[in-house]
Amino acid sequence: MKILVTGGLGFIGSHTVVELQNKGYDVVIIDDLSNASIEVLDGIESITGKRPEFVELDLRDKHLVYEFFKSNKDLDGIIHFAASKAVGESMQNPMKYYENNFFSLINVLSAMQEYGLDKIIFSSSCTVYGQGKVMPIKENESVKPALSPYGNTKQVGEEIIIDLAKVYPLNAILLRYFNPIGAHESVMIGESPLGVPYNLIPYITQTAVGVREFLSIYGDDYDTPDGTCVRDYIHVVDLADAHVRALARLVNKENTDQIEAFNVGNGQGYSVLELVHSFERVSGIKLNYKIVDRRPGDVDKAWADNTKAREVLGWKPTKTLDDMLDSAWKWEQKVRNS
Ligand code: UFG
Repeated sequence: MKILVTGGLGFIGSHTVVELQNKGYDVVIIDDLSNASIEVLDGIESITGKRPEFVELDLRDKHLVYEFFKSNKDLDGIIHFAASKAVGESMQNPMKYYENNFFSLINVLSAMQEYGLDKIIFSSSCTVYGQGKVMPIKENESVKPALSPYGNTKQVGEEIIIDLAKVYPLNAILLRYFNPIGAHESVMIGESPLGVPYNLIPYITQTAVGVREFLSIYGDDYDTPDGTCVRDYIHVVDLADAHVRALARLVNKENTDQIEAFNVGNGQGYSVLELVHSFERVSGIKLNYKIVDRRPGDVDKAWADNTKAREVLGWKPTKTLDDMLDSAWKWEQKVRNS
């Protein structure tokens, strides 16, 4: 089985490539290296013993995308990660988000249609729920207006897939991730954002090693027990496993609907302060932090009802919050010492 993984050198993409190769799939990665480095291929190879095929390509270029698909008509499935993904950055630079996330998705889908391919897993996000009122969030929770351009690209991305499936026999699984963190236990791959990180965990670990002076905690006056935002953190390897299971469901034609959506989260919420304290416990380091103003686009709280993924995909999260932070910390130390 040959699977295309777009954005396969990124954080979630690379961990998913490892799990796919470990299950015997052949993988072709497309990545434009805009937020990932080529050395990730070495990491994947050292874990799995196999170097995936790699094509450097900008998915916004329709001509190049069609050329790729024309010579890869034997693909059995596609996992589409390639996208920009930071809520905060999308508020500052919305056009980057609309261009990257829409052009790439549209080009991939229309090339699939052109060359008769019909199976795709789409990286979606809990952001499609906006600020849900009822926690934990179920998949049938109504989609609310997005609070950020990034969130909007995920909502509309889902709609584009749904619309195409009305006129083309597409089978798609939308995986709605909560907050993926952590790193592979081998410490060969992890999260390596280029430049100043927008996400919480790399900011925490970079502060702990001294690359950043202090962590800014965005707001402590939310409607949550300690006033800081609550999120559902999920270990990236557990998330990768959900992709392999979703892909197997499509490849084995077990899906009951053309489009299926699954929440992928631990099912438990932790506040930013709880996370900081858990990190301090795991690393033995006292973290420098300051409470600052709220960050535009943030929701108060979001955590998943993951029953559907457990029951239908046979998936379950296996890692604790301490495991997640421990692996993220080991990865950061490795990056700094290499
Ligand atoms: N945070 C800080 N300081 C930082 C960075 C983050 O306090 O320097 C806080 C944020 O305010 C938020 C929490 O840490 O409360 C997590 O923030 P991240 O940026 O790591 O992640 P988000 O929750 O913003 O984003 C995640 C997923 C998105 C998804 C979104 C939905 O990465 O894919 O949740 O809310 F869309």
